[in-house]
Parts: sequence; structure tokens; C-alpha cells
Amino acid sequence: MQWFAQAPANIALIKYMGKTNEDENIPENPSFSYTLDRLLSNVMIEEHPGSQDFWAPLSIPGAPKFQLSKQGQERYLAHLAFLKKKFNYRGAFVVHSSNNFPHGSGLASSASSFAALTKCAILALCELKKEDLPSIEIQATLARHGSGSACRSFFSPWALWDQDTVTGVVLPYSNLIHQVILVSHEEKSISSSAAHRLVKTSNLYSHRAHRAQNNLKTLMHALEASDWASAYQVTWKEFHDMHHLFATATPPFSYINEQSQALLTALKSSWDRLGDGPLITMDAGPNIHLLYRPDQADMALRFKHDQLIGEYDVL
Ligand code: DP6
Repeated sequence: MQWFAQAPANIALIKYMGKTNEDENIPENPSFSYTLDRLLSNVMIEEHPGSQDFWAPLSIPGAPKFQLSKQGQERYLAHLAFLKKKFNYRGAFVVHSSNNFPHGSGLASSASSFAALTKCAILALCELKKEDLPSIEIQATLARHGSGSACRSFFSPWALWDQDTVTGVVLPYSNLIHQVILVSHEEKSISSSAAHRLVKTSNLYSHRAHRAQNNLKTLMHALEASDWASAYQVTWKEFHDMHHLFATATPPFSYINEQSQALLTALKSSWDRLGDGPLITMDAGPNIHLLYRPDQADMALRFKHDQLIGEYDVL
């Protein structure tokens, strides 16, 4: 038998960075994200007669072959083993997976890929064990064990995750336009899982949870009040706060390169000039995520044509 599931990526505006429990991915502070419905991971699971699980790329006609490092495959299959244990299932599977965004684009995909694997494995395991499907909240919690940020991909468009609880949030902005500027296609040298550990060595870490909570409060108020400029300001402050943790860790590290810095400067001066622009954020990588309101569609296109096309790939 075969099962199929799909899950989207998400971009955090209030960042999950630092864990109080590494085994269960319990975060030090709440995080808040916008779900990126266009950027999807696909998973197909099939039963197989052996005793060991395998990973294989999911072939999509016309798309380049999807690849996953040995380490990536092991992490993926370890999460499948965790789910099988939860459902007390001993049979073996082949897991086929791929993303619809270009491989090697430099876009972290652990949120969508672990959310899709969790959904698909739950479909398979519930059918095989003749059990009812668990609630979305429970599915999200199970996905969190694979990769923390995956739990937010179960809710759209906004998700709020604190400790072991994740929920959807209803806000005035439900239909934003997402662009990601691919500043680098390279695999990052420090994974986000490693970053979660390293930030604890920064002097700025002790009050980080407090700052994140304050930023979350400010951002929620701004979005609820449709105060876009304040939402931009606090989003900007928040990702810089995370990147300052990286810069002050021992040893220090950084994902912001010359190109990302130049783009950030251009985006900020455009905001200063026009008094309007996109929400801007960066994860643990050099790529820049932009979220525009639907009424800013022309602005989004103009920025893309004038500043990005020919220089950078934009998704
Ligand atoms: C910077 O969810 O990738 O993107 O739980 O170790 O898999 P693990 O970490 P992961 O961390 C994401 C960190 C971030 C910020 C965020 O998405 O909130």
C-alpha cells in the first residue's frame, strides 16, 4: 500500500532559537510564523517486506532529481522510527520525498519536510493499525520531535508555538505575498540545529527569551491593529536580535554576507523613503524573506525587476 502527503514551509517572524530540551525540541521562547503555501514538501510512503526503512527521492516528471545527504536521510528515518514506535508498529517502509522548490536553493526545508513526513507516516500507521487519525495539534506535536519549526507548518496562515503547544492565529493579514531572495545556493556550514546549541554561549542569551516575548507582544498588537510599519520595525529588530546572538557566540558565526547586507541596506532605505515596504526577515542563512500586503503587489514586482532580476534568483 502507498500513502501520500504534502506540507508547506513557514517563515518565522519571531524566531525559535535555543532549546530547553534538545530531545523533544522544546523552545526557550515562543515563536510566530507565516505559512508559505507555495513552498511544499511531498512525501510518499510504501510498505516493504524487509525489516529496515529506506529513503529514496520522489521522482516528479520534469523536475531535477531530488537529493538528500546521508546525514539528512538518517535524521529523516530516525523520525520515522520515532513515529513507528509511538504507534507500536514493527513493519518497514520506503519513504520517497522531494520539495517543489529547487534543491540546493539554499532554502532550509526541514519544517516542510518533517511536517510532510509526519503527516504521511501518521496516515500510513493509522490505517495499518486501524486507528483514528489524531488531531492536527497532536500531529504537529509529533512533527516537532523531528524538527521544531515543523510544528508551525500545520497551521495557516499564522502559527504560534510556545513550549509544547502550537495553534493557528487569526489576524487581519491572511493573504500576504512572499518572496525569498536567494543570496546563496550553498549548503550552510552551521545548521540551525547547531545554531540552537551555539547561541547559548552568547552573553546576550540570558535575556533572549524576554526580548523575544516582548517582540512577539509588539508584533501581535501591530498586526491586530493593521499597523504595518510597526510590524516591519519589530520584525526587523527580531531577526537582528537572533543574528546578534550568532555574532556574539563562542566561536562567533554569521550568515549575513556582503550581498545580504547590501540588500538589507537597500530595502531599509526604500522603507525610509516611502514610509512603506515589505516585512523583512532572515533565518539561519543568508537568504532574505519579504512579505508584502496584497495591495503592495506592484511594489513587490517593481523591486524584483529593478533590483533583483539578473542578480539573484527569487522564489
Ligand atoms: C532560525 O526547526 O530547523 O529557522 O528543531 O533543531 O530542527 P531543529 O531546528 P529548526 O530551527 C529553525 C530556526 C530558525 C527560526 C525559526 O524557524 O523559528
